[in-house]
Amino acid sequence: MADEMKVTVIDHPLIQHKLTIMRMKETGTKDFRQLLEEIAMLMTYEVARDFPLEEIEIETPVAKCKANILKGKKLGIVPILRAGLGFLSGVQNMIPNAKVGHVGMYRDPETLKPVEYYCKLPNDVAERTLLVVDPMLATGGSAAAALSLLKEKGANNLLLMCLVAAPEGIKVVNEAHPEVPIYVAAIDECLNDHGYIVPGLGDAGDRIFGTL
Ligand code: PRP
Ligand code: URA
Repeated sequence: MADEMKVTVIDHPLIQHKLTIMRMKETGTKDFRQLLEEIAMLMTYEVARDFPLEEIEIETPVAKCKANILKGKKLGIVPILRAGLGFLSGVQNMIPNAKVGHVGMYRDPETLKPVEYYCKLPNDVAERTLLVVDPMLATGGSAAAALSLLKEKGANNLLLMCLVAAPEGIKVVNEAHPEVPIYVAAIDECLNDHGYIVPGLGDAGDRIFGTL
């Protein structure tokens, strides 16, 4: 039981197909970014499946009626820089009114520990559901630190959406933030000695921004 992971895998065939192309080493920056945006849209559609609705009265050009809208807390999107930015536009396409906060984290290449370098959030984070996005969940250090930072800033309703995760990273986030639901498109085998996900897709930030 101690090793059980709490995670939702969104493995729709379209997502699997697009992710496979992203993984290929010959896929270039333009296609990589485009596919990531498309997957972000598809994943957001699934993440939002559990969002509560409320009924309101409206008037169409034809008649009055009752119809559903999203209920409750407004959404905020928080990409973890840099690679999280590649996930942002796809989520925004689905939820265009969401405010956006940015958290800057990079992984120290020696220690693999996250280093925070930037944080700018909407001033009402306590009243929002925050969808934290980062394509890669490897050791879990960056995501766990970003979630802790957001809690320190007053956030109390958090979701984490990643593209590819290692089991190690899921367990770290589960342990540090057991109440935060995690959504991923794939759980890969393991981490290598440099903390890269195997088979993974390489360095997501470099592939998004062409800094290989
Ligand atoms: C990558 C990725 C995550 C982090 C995951 O960022 O985008 O934020 O690594 O690794 P972890 O789970 O072991 O913390 P990176 O540090 O490469 O920075 P970048 O996005 O600016 O390239
Ligand atoms: N960050 C990445 O971009 N890729 C990995 O495999 C691990 C961390």
